[in-house]
Amino acid sequence: MSNHSPTPLLVLIGFMGAGKSTLGRLLAAQLECPLIDLDVEISRVHGPIPDLFSTRGESGFRAIEHHQLNQMLPDMARPSVLALGGGAFLQSANRELLSRHGATVIFLDAPFELVRTRVAGSAHQRPLARDSEALRALYEQRRPTYLLAHHRLPATDADPSVLLTSLVQLANQLGVRSPAHDKL
Ligand code: S3P
Repeated sequence: MSNHSPTPLLVLIGFMGAGKSTLGRLLAAQLECPLIDLDVEISRVHGPIPDLFSTRGESGFRAIEHHQLNQMLPDMARPSVLALGGGAFLQSANRELLSRHGATVIFLDAPFELVRTRVAGSAHQRPLARDSEALRALYEQRRPTYLLAHHRLPATDADPSVLLTSLVQLANQLGVRSPAHDKL
């Protein structure tokens, strides 16, 4: 993917349970910039995601997801942090949108066992996480596409503060100042 943005839009991608929402929140707080969580926006506008899967099917949900991303991107502040749902980056139309808006995409690469443990018990919130074998197949199938991201961070540590430090360093390298760090 190419990107030429001087003040990046930092986009976190990765499988369900990789920590995108949690780390997105922590990173945005550290950088003192806005956080947008695509799934939160979808739920706010269209209702709970499991309901969307039940009433419209996965393809209906994907259409809403694309529409919401398309609507939000032009108005997003720079810098800001955007956390995507696990399937959003799989749609080539979404990758094109992100590229067109100069987004810097960061793949949180968490091992399968870690994400499996995290999503176990949250199947009611994650319609695609209901079957463990299907989850593994989806994980393997998606990983090559996640690797198209500009940056990959191994997310092996269960402690988010370790990964946060790496993310802040990366953001600084990309030209995003970290006000909390500047004050030290
Ligand atoms: C999905 C992941 C979910 C949510 C929806 C579909 C996926 O978000 O967007 O259930 O296809 O991987 P999280 O990755 O935040 O769980």
